[in-house]
Amino acid sequence: MGTRRAFDAAAADFAALGRYLWEPIGAATVAAAGLAEGDRVLDACCGTGASAIPAAHAVGAEGVVDAIDLSGPMIGELRRLSAGLPQLRAHEADATAWDTGGYDVVQSALGIFFFPDMTDGTERLIARARSGGRVVFTIWRGGSMVAAGRHLGRAVAAVTESGPPSEREPSLIDRIDQAGPYADWLSERNLSDVDVTVNELRLTMTPEIAWLVVVGSGFRGLLDGLEPDVVERVRERYLESLRADGVTELDATTLIGSGTVH
Ligand SMILES: C[S@@+](CC[C@H](N)C(=O)[O-])C[C@H]1O[C@@H](n2cnc3c(N)ncnc32)[C@H](O)[C@@H]1O
Repeated sequence: MGTRRAFDAAAADFAALGRYLWEPIGAATVAAAGLAEGDRVLDACCGTGASAIPAAHAVGAEGVVDAIDLSGPMIGELRRLSAGLPQLRAHEADATAWDTGGYDVVQSALGIFFFPDMTDGTERLIARARSGGRVVFTIWRGGSMVAAGRHLGRAVAAVTESGPPSEREPSLIDRIDQAGPYADWLSERNLSDVDVTVNELRLTMTPEIAWLVVVGSGFRGLLDGLEPDVVERVRERYLESLRADGVTELDATTLIGSGTVH
């Protein structure tokens, strides 16, 4: 399943997981952006607005937030959630092809590593900011979320009697998922004053939250094509697997990288 379809299917559960995961990360991303009233902001890969909505509050009625996501259901949910914020304009589009520019701030929370070419896509976003503007890109720190993916992969394999889940090919994100390498990579992107903040977050894995982590995120793609009764067996197996391994918390720490555009 592609990124778009996984997130399309996840939109409602994505919003439900939001208060535990996306919203605190989005708020920290916006805090790092240092927004002022009247600012023009591009929020790329906005999902249901975890960073776009607090940004819209920060820039006020005189400001603008163009929030962009590939997924129509995400954008639909965001339009519903931001009904009282006319300064937030939600667009269903590919953020890397967005051609309006001159933004005071370009931000993206947990989005840039989905671009087929992460470096090229990120440079395209940076080019949308005005000279002297700021960019803020939040990524997972290495190791975050992996325990959930590992237990889910095992549960799907066991229930569907398929082979063990294939390992993802190592890619750029695996080489820059610590603060130092991430700062170096950002510094190579025509940015100055680069700063990377480690934003610690741990989710308490109650059964409810543990399952929301699956159905309310891109992990949901692993359930694609499974019948509801099979999904229910996967859910039971996954929760049992977490219990057996004593997993009570999930590391969801992020790296918030920012810089000034030349
Ligand atoms: C993990 S979610 C994060 C959403 C939101 N920023 C948040 O923090 O809650 C990633 C989002 O990126 C979107 N996405 C991936 N590639 C994209 C692209 N090229 N253009 C726009 N959105 C994209 C997906 O549809 C998904 O909604």
